[in-house]
Amino acid sequence: MKVAILGTGYVGLSTGVSLAEIGHQVCCIDVDEAKINQLQQGISPIYEPGMEEFLTRNIAAGRLRFTTSHRQGVAGAEIVILAVGTPQREDGSADLTYLVEAAKDLAAYLEQETIVVIKSTVPVGTNDEVRKILEANCHEDVSVKMVANPEFLRQGSALKDTLEADRIIIGSDHQQAASKVKEMYSPLKVPCMLTSVRSAEMIKYASNAFLATKISFINAVANLCEAVGADVTDVAKGMGMDKRIGNHFLNAGIGYGGSCFPKDVKALWHTTRNEEVDFGVLAETMRINDEQQVRLVKKTLKRFAGDVSGKKIAMLGLSFKPETDDMREAPSIKIAQELTKLGAHVAAYDPVATKNAKRVIGESISYADTLLEAVTDADAVLVVTEWQEMKQMDIASLGEVMKQVIIFDGRNCLDEEQLRNCKNIEYHPIGRPAI
Ligand code: UGA
Repeated sequence: MKVAILGTGYVGLSTGVSLAEIGHQVCCIDVDEAKINQLQQGISPIYEPGMEEFLTRNIAAGRLRFTTSHRQGVAGAEIVILAVGTPQREDGSADLTYLVEAAKDLAAYLEQETIVVIKSTVPVGTNDEVRKILEANCHEDVSVKMVANPEFLRQGSALKDTLEADRIIIGSDHQQAASKVKEMYSPLKVPCMLTSVRSAEMIKYASNAFLATKISFINAVANLCEAVGADVTDVAKGMGMDKRIGNHFLNAGIGYGGSCFPKDVKALWHTTRNEEVDFGVLAETMRINDEQQVRLVKKTLKRFAGDVSGKKIAMLGLSFKPETDDMREAPSIKIAQELTKLGAHVAAYDPVATKNAKRVIGESISYADTLLEAVTDADAVLVVTEWQEMKQMDIASLGEVMKQVIIFDGRNCLDEEQLRNCKNIEYHPIGRPAI
């Protein structure tokens, strides 16, 4: 099948390489010339495990192309996928500017029977709006059939999540268009659910909001565990053994970040306000998350009797989660800002996100080239992102370089056996008894 994809961000690129991998002829279009030049050479603009291997293999096989020309990209395509960003506006609603622009750019090149798939995360009703824009700007003999096909991939495991998804949601009011999109995915052997356009749009937001709520719920349980002397890891494990609850997304920590959950929960909240529908749990999910992001700062402050000024605090991890260099809404931002405000000297280390972090956090903190450099002479260590390197660090040797070994583990990721065997350390996890 010939497929064109507009937008080469996380979603567009992962979809493009995955569709090429299963045998389709894919052309990815982006207005960013520098990005397209890089992609043509097999260089990924994002840090994503496996991406460059997929790019190289499929470009070499002649199944994957990149262009800035809509005319070239769309020519002969049976399916056109829109995968541009839908960032957050100041009021929390989704900004559809890029999508509207992409639809306008695309319209003139649509051929007679084109199926237009929206993969971007969009508020309910957007497919209808985009169809109107396309119809208003395309040739009169073109018939546009819209399909809402949201994406459920996670950064860091984007390709695996696309190729081995739990489900594929295909929302369309045209049976034929839905069948064609289903056929495009058929080599994947992933269950497809066909539904209406609006239900498909809603499934995406409801799924992300539910997962975010699950995280805020377990974080609230963690805080309660600390107060009553229970262990949230065991509590989550015990809860998760009930199939109705499930054991995923119950890791307590310092709150969710990234480019999706914070934005999508806010956008859904915005929709509930517009529609005057009461959905208070969303507001509570966001409130708990805001508080949780500074939980480590509060713990550190308490440990140092309310004064951290002049202390060197090593912050291990900057990206919002491991296996990505993405800093969007990363808890590290708030943690760095709060500690700096309190007069602490923050020395941060991250295996891949430092360059991006410098742009977001700036020079108010220092950036170490190695984990060892960050922890040397530190008064405390804060584990902020659960990179393998942090999980595997030699805790026993910290005593040789730190002033005193005090660890605040925001991800409950350090090896408990190692911790118990270490002398003269203080360990403060989230929702679990300190060691
Ligand atoms: C999320 C969803 O998981 C994907 O299904 C969805 O497709 C994507 O958003 C999107 O809408 O595009 P992503 O933001 O890449 O994916 O990352 P997640 O792995 O979901 O993690 C999000 C945040 O939640 C991270 O900050 C992570 O540390 C946090 N988290 C996750 C927890 O604090 N606890 C958990 O148990 C799980």
